[in-house]
Amino acid sequence: MLDKDKEDIEIARNAKDIINQLAVFIRTAHIHDPGNVAVMTAVERFIATINPMIERGNVLTLDLVGEFFYLNESRVRYSMEYLLNFDFLVREFKRRGLGSVTINRKISPEDVQTFLKSFISCSYSGSPFDTLSDEMSKVDSLSVGPLKKIKEEGDVDVKKMVKKTYFNAVSFTKGVINKIKSGERVSLKKAKRVVESMVDMILEEEELLIGMTAIKDYDEYTYNHSVNVSILSVALGQRIGLSRKALTDLGLVALFHDIGKMEIPPEILNKPTNFNDDEWRVIKKHPFWGVRAILRLKGLDYTSVRTAIVAFEHHLNYDMSGYPKISRPLELDFYSKIVSLADQYDAMTSSRVYSRVPMAPDKALSIMLERAGTQLDPLLFKFFINMVGVFPIGTLVLLDTKELGLVYGGNTMFQDRPRVLVIIDSTGNRVKGDVVDLTEKNVSGKYLRTIVKTMDPNKYRINLAEYML
Ligand SMILES: [Fe+2]
Ligand SMILES: [Fe+2]
Repeated sequence: MLDKDKEDIEIARNAKDIINQLAVFIRTAHIHDPGNVAVMTAVERFIATINPMIERGNVLTLDLVGEFFYLNESRVRYSMEYLLNFDFLVREFKRRGLGSVTINRKISPEDVQTFLKSFISCSYSGSPFDTLSDEMSKVDSLSVGPLKKIKEEGDVDVKKMVKKTYFNAVSFTKGVINKIKSGERVSLKKAKRVVESMVDMILEEEELLIGMTAIKDYDEYTYNHSVNVSILSVALGQRIGLSRKALTDLGLVALFHDIGKMEIPPEILNKPTNFNDDEWRVIKKHPFWGVRAILRLKGLDYTSVRTAIVAFEHHLNYDMSGYPKISRPLELDFYSKIVSLADQYDAMTSSRVYSRVPMAPDKALSIMLERAGTQLDPLLFKFFINMVGVFPIGTLVLLDTKELGLVYGGNTMFQDRPRVLVIIDSTGNRVKGDVVDLTEKNVSGKYLRTIVKTMDPNKYRINLAEYML
């Protein structure tokens, strides 16, 4: 007899382990071969978790929706320890167009073996999902289903929506800042709604929205920067498992981190050359001015107080080496640690900040790596680099095929093998190219394309916006 609620709780409790075990034996089988001892040990562990639940009358269905797994329709939360394995499995499912796996009878090691072999070999066929599905029809206990698009209208509409969300947020931010500048007393209520829509978009289309932050030649740096920092902060918060409510708070706090900058005279803020000492003194006041501006808002609440704290702390640094100078060390607010990572990254890779020339994303990350443990929180930095990738979206790369391409999407398992949009072919001609996956191998197991080095997009007059929008 099946006590439904009790069973659901039991399944949910095991969900993370089930996905992790699945990822482990698939990964191990990729490296060795499906019959390997290490693979078999992992398979047995998987069966030992699954079969008791099946014996009690359950059917287990694992679905992939967007970037998330659902086990029997409840979302499986990302956990720190399993992060890499989860991401790996998401990618491998997507590559095969695989959207669900259902187990409705007790499984045997042989069943799992068949699954593993077909799972691995089908990725080389023209229509991986169909090949896998054919093979799996021979196994009674296990069945597979195709990947469903969240938005049936297709990618174009999703892109449009992502763009709309992004630009809405930018124009909203601009509006609020101008209102505050002109002395109007605004409240953060409406801002909350704007941030909520960004949070929703990040949960569904993280990569595309992060892609929007990679376009650095927007007209108005200040507003785009605020939105970018908000997006990157929320995306990072999502990876470390913050709740939706916490993500909204974080996004809001991040959106207003630089609000004090509105008091910096534009001739300083927009100066094309380096700042002198006097100008720096003015710039370094923006954390104070930020606190003041926020405390003047209508209806102070928990979130606005936290916004003020982060506005004050976002240049303090993990080791207190930044500004403003404080008389004794304090424990940084958790959000400050996240926001300063996102802030440094976006500021360095943009063109209209303290330095004029935008830095290539990989260069910015290597500088941040040196700061991890001193100026930046080392653990959060690990999550950050994992999120943007070793080659972040928008990086211009030279491939060993002599093609030039823009990094288009990450690949967490193989950080040096992202998806790349080819824009110049091997003969040097501009092409409206395809997106290629650098994890793709030929029949003899050799990678089709590998990154040789990153290139400076300014040198090649390549406008990322042209390709991303
Ligand atoms: Fe700042
Ligand atoms: Fe900033």
